[in-house]
Amino acid sequence: MSDRAPISVLWPDPSADPVDDDTLIARYGRTDRPHLRMNFVTSVDGAVSLDGYSAGLSGAPDKRVFGLLRMLCDALLVAAGTLRHEGYRAIRLDERRRAWRRTHGLTEYPTLVVVSGSLDLDPAQAAFADAPVRPVVLTRPDAAAPPGLSAVADLVRCGDDRVDLVAGLAELRRRGLGQLLCEGGPQLFGALTAADLVDEVCLSVAPLLAGAGPGRITAGVPSLAARSLPLRHVLLADDGTLLLRHARN
Ligand SMILES: NC(=O)c1ccc[n+]([C@@H]2O[C@H](COP(=O)([O-])OP(=O)(O)OC[C@H]3O[C@@H](n4cnc5c(N)ncnc54)[C@H](OP(=O)(O)O)[C@@H]3O)[C@@H](O)[C@H]2O)c1
Repeated sequence: MSDRAPISVLWPDPSADPVDDDTLIARYGRTDRPHLRMNFVTSVDGAVSLDGYSAGLSGAPDKRVFGLLRMLCDALLVAAGTLRHEGYRAIRLDERRRAWRRTHGLTEYPTLVVVSGSLDLDPAQAAFADAPVRPVVLTRPDAAAPPGLSAVADLVRCGDDRVDLVAGLAELRRRGLGQLLCEGGPQLFGALTAADLVDEVCLSVAPLLAGAGPGRITAGVPSLAARSLPLRHVLLADDGTLLLRHARN
């Protein structure tokens, strides 16, 4: 685990001293009940990407928290669009993070869970082919799987003409995957919000003005009425990135 990208606490309990990973783990933590945490990075003006990718928004402090949140989860949920576009690789954690998971009674690696209505997925993509834990794909009942996909992933079919995310997450919980981290993208965030499944949002705000063009971190069918998501902490990184944590409880 890396303490090399300095981060300090702005609120609550402000201190200019950089925090170590143990302090960050305590601030983000795991809960004792099923929980869905979203993790996104954005610009000051709300962009989801720079030049089409999230990498341009993400500095070392964001990557530090990104890796730490992966360490804390049972499963990493990602939409097929982001998996394809960002070329997701197999989940890797360094030995210190794997040791932390073993000590806390977790599997060495979280399970990758992909949400795809179409099953337009490549079984040879490293996220599947090199996965340390067999991934799960949440999909529609009648979606046709490409050759080889069921050899590298469990297909969970739920819903009818669309993926039923409530049923999908219930099935993950049944498999012991209760602490979920979702890395997007915006269509999936929109759908999870519409289904009122989002318990927490961790948002990195990069000190950048992206300008018009990129979308927001949420997209798709408009959701129900806006709801409260209280602020839980504000961290500040030495590159000016703000790391916000909002959660319902
Ligand atoms: N800033 C950030 O933190 C961040 C994070 C993630 C992604 N991104 C950016 O977001 C962009 C990708 O966005 P995107 O428009 O492709 O959205 P997306 O949400 O990543 O992917 C959309 C696709 O995922 C599947 N999917 C999502 N929600 C679903 C649902 N409820 N039911 C069934 N399938 C669902 C579908 O795949 P099928 O087509 O297979 O049915 C859908 O076409 C990229 O530019 C990426 O860099 C940014």
